[in-house]
Amino acid sequence: MDTADLLSQIPIFASLGNEDRGSLAERILRQSFPKGSTLFRRGEPGNALYIIIRGQIRIFASTRQGNEITLALLGPGEFFGEMALLDGEPRSANAEAAEETEVHFLDRDNFFSFLMHKESALRAILRALSQRLRRTDDLLAEAYFLQISHRLARKLVELQERTATGDGASRPLRVTQRELAGMIGATRESVNKELNVLRKKGLVQTSRNRITILDLDRLKRRVR
Ligand code: CMP
Repeated sequence: MDTADLLSQIPIFASLGNEDRGSLAERILRQSFPKGSTLFRRGEPGNALYIIIRGQIRIFASTRQGNEITLALLGPGEFFGEMALLDGEPRSANAEAAEETEVHFLDRDNFFSFLMHKESALRAILRALSQRLRRTDDLLAEAYFLQISHRLARKLVELQERTATGDGASRPLRVTQRELAGMIGATRESVNKELNVLRKKGLVQTSRNRITILDLDRLKRRVR
């Protein structure tokens, strides 16, 4: 598929007419990143907006001690890297490819001329910023007010429901304790401690990088 066709499938570019889409396609670049590679780190100067064509990008913050919090998992059609372009500050978080990922990127000048030219694009960017702030507010409230045991049980239920097959059968979750800790804003050690509690209660079984939920209903009752 050529770049102009790909742009027509991306929500922020969908309302462009053929001519605008063609001229944007000439100014936009395309790049692939293997799973696990870093696109940029917090603190670096930011000169481009990225739009995901396929794959998944993890946006995260980390401490010097190696603890991480996943702020967002972004998929095809979503964009990131707009904050440094809008406020001129360095990158606010790290971005890595959670799987093999292909992106478009647009430099600062083209980003601004596109925004000024297209009101629908400006609205899409503002809507995404508001939604991100809402999700971050939820995460912050959870981190403040909910115990780690509650946050962990809730995340396990959510992951299990997302991976359940059509016939309702459940599969073991392929997730590390470090990744779980990042998703709920906790340390790996505290996740390990809570998993031990759940294991002793017969709710989960754990092996290397896998968690099997043995009693989803009982786990759900813990998060009500
Ligand atoms: P920028 O600061 O340029 O680089 C990091 C990017 O991660 C940022 O732009 C946003 O696109 C994205 N980002 C930062 N914080 C969040 C968040 N809380 N939720 C979703 N995306 C975020």
